[in-house]
Amino acid sequence: MYGMVNQALEDMLIERFGRPAWENVKKEAGVNVEVFITSNAYPDQMTYSLVGAASRTLGMTTEEVLRGFGQYWILKTARDGYGELLNLGGSNLPEFLENLPTFHTRISLIFSHLQPPGFSCQDITATSLRLRYYSDRPGLSQFVVGLLEGLGDMFKTPVRVLQEGSAGPDRDYDLFLVEWEQPQP
Ligand code: HEM
Repeated sequence: MYGMVNQALEDMLIERFGRPAWENVKKEAGVNVEVFITSNAYPDQMTYSLVGAASRTLGMTTEEVLRGFGQYWILKTARDGYGELLNLGGSNLPEFLENLPTFHTRISLIFSHLQPPGFSCQDITATSLRLRYYSDRPGLSQFVVGLLEGLGDMFKTPVRVLQEGSAGPDRDYDLFLVEWEQPQP
């Protein structure tokens, strides 16, 4: 994945646990990189190793690390670093969700080696929809849950995410029911 992902994980862990904890995570993960270059592609395994090492050394499950990282990605990384791109996604939660299937297309124009996730929306009502998440990368469903929760926070719209199914032999996507309330003032 592009260096911006590992960099964001570093930022989150330093902010929450301090630099020594981060150095320990890198050591435990066997990652010997001083500075992640945003626009360089790194092996996916490096990101998985960092998440695994964070889980082992900081006493959280990998699911908890990924979910927290999804929230952080929206509320800090994307907002601070890619605000304009984020704004193009929509001006409220339902609009943003319905635009998710094409969201990474713009990012692919800048980062040409991007291997983006796939999304599609079904069963759309005024307060809910079903989201399919397609990916070649296994095990990231809790990252998606965190991302959706982060978007709810960003739009001040209480959101509930329920995973209804996982990719496996009979389907090639994870399935989420996303329900939301009216935005709060
Ligand atoms: C401006 C905001 C965003 C930027 C710059 C961005 C960029 C990226 C980048 C660079 C990757 C790594 C893929 C690679 O390097 O090949 C990625 C992966 C991913 N992004 Fe985004 N993203 C943004 C917002 C979002 C949002 C809003 C969602 C969904 C709610 C999302 C869902 C994902 C998922 C699930 C992955 C994991 C990749 C996979 O499943 O294969 N991203 N994104």
